[in-house]
Amino acid sequence: MAKIVVIGSCNIDVTVECERWAKPGETIFGKGLTISPGGKGANQAVAAARLGAEVAMVGCVGDDVYGKLMLEALEKNNINTDYVKVLPGENSGTAHITVAENDNSIIVIKAANDLVSPALVDEAWEVIAQADMVLLQHEIPAAVNTYVIEKCAAAGVPVLLNPAPVAPVPQELLDKVTYLTPNEHEAAVLFAGQGKADILGRNQGKVIMTLGSKGVAYAEKGQVYNVPGFKVQPVDTTGAGDTFNGAFAVARANGKSMYDSISFANAAAALSVQKLGAQSGMPYLQDVEEMLK
Ligand code: RIB
Repeated sequence: MAKIVVIGSCNIDVTVECERWAKPGETIFGKGLTISPGGKGANQAVAAARLGAEVAMVGCVGDDVYGKLMLEALEKNNINTDYVKVLPGENSGTAHITVAENDNSIIVIKAANDLVSPALVDEAWEVIAQADMVLLQHEIPAAVNTYVIEKCAAAGVPVLLNPAPVAPVPQELLDKVTYLTPNEHEAAVLFAGQGKADILGRNQGKVIMTLGSKGVAYAEKGQVYNVPGFKVQPVDTTGAGDTFNGAFAVARANGKSMYDSISFANAAAALSVQKLGAQSGMPYLQDVEEMLK
């Protein structure tokens, strides 16, 4: 069984569904409000666990109702929460999401996520050192990601960095990451001034560029590949990228080829968008295997 450790954010998603986007300065009526567990880190952990991996989550929540909800959701998905700290007096992270016109917009309040520390990484090192893959995103302090990448590189533990929301990362740190999963916009920030072909060519077997409806591109042995996605009618795309990352990590850790791992992840992401909420639509292994048939 693949061992995955996710070091990252836990948020409560406060989602409003609307017929259309509100213009600046305008008030409109929403269709409904949903409060559900999310956060890029927790979402990736849930995706990987549902697809059969043994998963541990490393992160922080507040000592509030939201923190309890998030811990319950992780535990319900058989995720080890020994290293999810409940911080006294702190608020849990929240994401304020609007879903409209087949898309979403998200504003994140980091709160407890901003208190994930190198000390917590050291405390969890026992499980991190045993991992087949460690997953990182950009919703905890950048200094913690740097610490994890350096430490894992020295110990030979593979790291997947999902650089969302995007922020520049020093090239020497990117060099130490095993897999990097930007979309086109994120890639343009991380590799300023370089075109897609250059980015893929210079980072073979590392950069996995998600291109929305155009599928996913990567390069290997001097050749660029494009892995097509699955066409579905989305209900809510929140968490699709996280499902992709969690699923890719599981498939790759289980020894599938790059192409097959990406195809597996594409199928999982396509299934995930068919329900409202980041985690509610995330598929189980059997669902993905069905889809791939
Ligand atoms: O990637 C989707 C996630 O981004 C949401 O669940 C929200 O919490 C934000 O972190």
